[in-house]
Amino acid sequence: PVLVVDFGAQYAQLIARRVREAHVYSELVPHSMPVEQMLAKDPKAIILSGGPASVYEPGAPSIDKAIFEAGVPVLGICYGFQVMANELGGKVNKAALGEYGKTEAVVDKAEGILADSPAEQTTWMSHGVAVEEAPEGFQVLAHTEGAPVAAMQDESRKLYGVQWHPEVKHTVLGNQLLFAFLHECAGLASDWDADNIIDEQVGRIREQVGDAEVICGLSGGVDSAVAAALVHKAVGDQLTCVFVDHGMLRKGEAEQVRHDFVEATGIKLIEVDASEEFLTALEGVTEPERKRKIIGEKFIRTFEKAQKEVLEEAGARGKEVKFLVQGTLYPDVVESGGGDGAANIKSHHNVGGLPEDVKFELVEPLRNLFKDEVRAIGTKLGLPDNIVWRQPFPGPGLGIRIIGEVTKDRLDLLRDADAIAREEMAKAGLDRDIWQCPVVLLADVHSVGVQGDERTYGSPIVLRPISSDDAMTADWYRLPYDVLATISTRITNECRGINRVVLDCTSKPPATIEWE
Ligand code: XMP
Repeated sequence: PVLVVDFGAQYAQLIARRVREAHVYSELVPHSMPVEQMLAKDPKAIILSGGPASVYEPGAPSIDKAIFEAGVPVLGICYGFQVMANELGGKVNKAALGEYGKTEAVVDKAEGILADSPAEQTTWMSHGVAVEEAPEGFQVLAHTEGAPVAAMQDESRKLYGVQWHPEVKHTVLGNQLLFAFLHECAGLASDWDADNIIDEQVGRIREQVGDAEVICGLSGGVDSAVAAALVHKAVGDQLTCVFVDHGMLRKGEAEQVRHDFVEATGIKLIEVDASEEFLTALEGVTEPERKRKIIGEKFIRTFEKAQKEVLEEAGARGKEVKFLVQGTLYPDVVESGGGDGAANIKSHHNVGGLPEDVKFELVEPLRNLFKDEVRAIGTKLGLPDNIVWRQPFPGPGLGIRIIGEVTKDRLDLLRDADAIAREEMAKAGLDRDIWQCPVVLLADVHSVGVQGDERTYGSPIVLRPISSDDAMTADWYRLPYDVLATISTRITNECRGINRVVLDCTSKPPATIEWE
């Protein structure tokens, strides 16, 4: 693989993704991993990410110099570039001029990572520290006003560094630089695609699971469906899927799973109605993180209980179910604080929401991937479009779309409103264009309305249509006014207790997609 060493950057996962876009396999590793362990992965190239620290400050993260002496091509980006320069004897200092955002770089030598570059490039920078002098043996390739050395390389040792961020789209020729490093400098071929990911994961799953029984919690969403199909390809009938009705599903969810998924895949499916237990556990709970933790724990307990039935179905009474498959994606891991040094934004039910005493070993074949990659794999595995292109729906379901306590009545109300919104968006032919549209009930908020000459004091429904590529960032989707109008009229007419429909027009960041 190409290893992306994470120094706590916001963009580390973006680098890994760009490498995959070059059809080269990549993996993210924390900078705290010992270098021997990194080299044991037999990397074909290494990229050092940016990070928030300053190399010359005490305690700033660094990396064992051995990494530069292993004969593996290394590209340092921003902080990673400064670490390289510092470790190899260059001069790194507080910059006379910090550069944040759009910056013009002057290319002194259009070679190596800057092969075929024009004499000037528009780049995106974020640094207050600069490399003043390159280490011995390095050639300076570019400079900017604030960075005397903005790009450098030592062809003989295959070491490369750049101050700007080639991984962000604002750096116009960023991909060209990354591709030059991967293909020209490191000599890697473009041979990584959905087929490879499938083959590699099938191999890993077989190795992990052996001949043990596996269950997979199916939510009806894309991720768990693709994860299940992958595991099924790997271990066939050792897999049983469990569809848990936790009472917070949308209208028609169970039927859809039965119909689309089972028919398309032939995978064994057990259905469990655990709605009472989930709702009882959520009584009186309003705090979002507590909701998420309770739901995460209940899922696990439900799978534990389903174990007996799974074994009976499998005809393997007495044996245990050792593994639980989850459709965890990369953004779930990062947002749950799973990236090295990353903050916990919210505990995704299948990562941070899990209890500590999980008896199952987890199988998470999609853990390093983004949603669009998962969709490509799903299609390759032969899943139908109506599964692969379904809008994302979070595991905790409508439970995190009721702001306030989750009760049966509120769920019924929200379920109706949600069904109307989805129906109208589909009718307008927008369901594939819109990434997803959470419909949220502000259950504890009341406002005055007038309906049928009567005063009402009801709750608002929020529509949150968004567009996105990978759910890491999102913009609010400009839903046409007439579609908004139809949805609003229908919801207020058909859902008793709702007297107002409002539109959430916030991007992510600053907001997240779901309200909780
Ligand atoms: P946020 O709200 O963090 O959501 O911007 C990003 C994407 O993840 C979905 N989401 C979840 N999916 N379990 C899931 O399976 C969860 O606990 C969870 N929380 C959020 C959300 O719908 C959006 O697509």
